[in-house]
Amino acid sequence: MESTPTPTPPQQQQQQRLLPLVVVFLFVVGALPAATHGATSSPHFHPVVLVPGNTCGQLDARLTDEYEPPTPACRGGVRYGSRASAGGGWFRLWENFTALQEDPALSPCYADQLRLVYDPVAGDYRNVPGVDTRVVSFGSTRGFRSDDPARKDVCMERLVEALEEEGYAEGENLFGAPYDFRYAPAAPGLPSGVFSDFTSRLRRLVERASERNGGKPVILVTHSLGGLFAMVFLDRTPLPWRRRYIKHFVMLCLGVGGSPLNMWPLAASSIPSSSSLVGSVLTYGNRSFASMFSLLPSPAVYGDTPLVITRAKNYSADDMPEFLSAAGFSDDEVALYRARALPVTLDLRAPLVPLTSINGVGVPTVDKLVFWDGNFSAKPQVVNGDGDGQINLDTVLALERLIGDDPDQGYFKSILIPNTTHKGVISDELALKRVVSEILGANSIN
Ligand SMILES: *[C@@H]1O[C@H](CO)[C@@H](O)[C@H](O)[C@H]1NC(C)=O
Ligand SMILES: *[C@@H]1O[C@H](CO)[C@@H](O)[C@H](O)[C@H]1NC(C)=O
Ligand SMILES: *[C@@H]1O[C@H](CO)[C@@H](O)[C@H](O)[C@H]1NC(C)=O
Ligand SMILES: *[C@@H]1O[C@H](CO)[C@@H](O)[C@H](O)[C@H]1NC(C)=O
Ligand SMILES: *[C@@H]1O[C@H](CO)[C@@H](O)[C@H](O)[C@H]1NC(C)=O
Repeated sequence: MESTPTPTPPQQQQQQRLLPLVVVFLFVVGALPAATHGATSSPHFHPVVLVPGNTCGQLDARLTDEYEPPTPACRGGVRYGSRASAGGGWFRLWENFTALQEDPALSPCYADQLRLVYDPVAGDYRNVPGVDTRVVSFGSTRGFRSDDPARKDVCMERLVEALEEEGYAEGENLFGAPYDFRYAPAAPGLPSGVFSDFTSRLRRLVERASERNGGKPVILVTHSLGGLFAMVFLDRTPLPWRRRYIKHFVMLCLGVGGSPLNMWPLAASSIPSSSSLVGSVLTYGNRSFASMFSLLPSPAVYGDTPLVITRAKNYSADDMPEFLSAAGFSDDEVALYRARALPVTLDLRAPLVPLTSINGVGVPTVDKLVFWDGNFSAKPQVVNGDGDGQINLDTVLALERLIGDDPDQGYFKSILIPNTTHKGVISDELALKRVVSEILGANSIN
């Protein structure tokens, strides 16, 4: 089977989506509202809190005696010993690009220290014993800056710069909420300590940002996985709190219901280590991250459509447990998918705050993976559909349906930017202008 990009023609897209809400589709980026805001207008701005995408939070770690290194070189004594006295032993675990470039032998150490384990007694995921971690610079957009130049376009750095050019100022009316991307929200009632800590801190950050700005409610802007975290966060805050503190939710590059692409790193027990997100997450996560299950295709969106195709058997979203077993996950791990991750995906609800969703379209995006011989470690042939290269248009349409079906949602606008990739939405010049103008515009929507 050949790779077959089949972007949906614009006319067809438009017909599918006549919702009774404020829905605007832009198929051509043009006629942008003039960006007239300068530094002088910043006192009038609503504060902005940014929640970046997967792998964007920087993590520090320190090792205790409990840590059992896979090789003596990972003990850390030599490498981190001198820092232990100065900085309490903390070092940059994710992502120390410089260190990994200089010393590739560190890579398996970092990979081992990044792993999560599930603790059946606590009923929750945790770090490997002997590894403490902390998210760097919560509250600040500096926390998702990395020393890897390739990450600048992926982790909202350009969006930060663009907002600063409009007069937004770090720490005054511009804040960042990086998170530990290895962990994930769990079904209601199940412990998910790290995610719960994140939501408590995000709630306080939003309140502080508002207080600092004369009580003005906050514009929450998310990219990719950050949007899932924010949707779950909002859903778990009381409605009066949301109405008081959230002026607008601008969700970039996410639908509801995951994406077939995310089955790839779970299928493969090894992917050629590359600079791609999929490659690096696999290499470093070793399939242990709770969040790996969070963006799997949802049965509510994909149902019994075959997504992974082999000669002997096909796997749909409905068959996800069978797929995970076939990919080598243990019965206990599959049970975690069912009990913790799947209910979160199935329970996603309209946030009931003004929402603008912005997505790239027109970029070939994995629809199906073909491992014809059933060898999940081989490179699959892919069947492409429409989307931003990572997020399928199908799931964006599912978001629109979800919102459209909720009479309590109120303001909703969905913008599709043509020929724009997942990272392009927050780094291509024109797309970025569009995003910034929507954020500035959200300041004056009532
Ligand atoms: C990355 O590691 C190097 C060498 O181990 C260290 O000098 C540097 O401070 C680390 N980077 C960060 C951001 O901590
Ligand atoms: C994952 O970790 C296990 C145990 O540490 C190891 O045996 C396996 O080779 C690792 N797999 C990958 C893909 O790194
Ligand atoms: C798997 O799905 C493909 C594509 O939808 C279909 O042609 C094929 O017959 C299916 N194979 C099996 C074994 O069900
Ligand atoms: C599966 O594919 C990988 C990567 O191409 C290859 O190294 C391995 O030998 C294959 N396994 C089988 C059983 O064919
Ligand atoms: C899509 O974007 C690419 C890269 O930005 C550009 O080279 C190409 O001409 C664009 N295609 C269309 C149809 O706009």
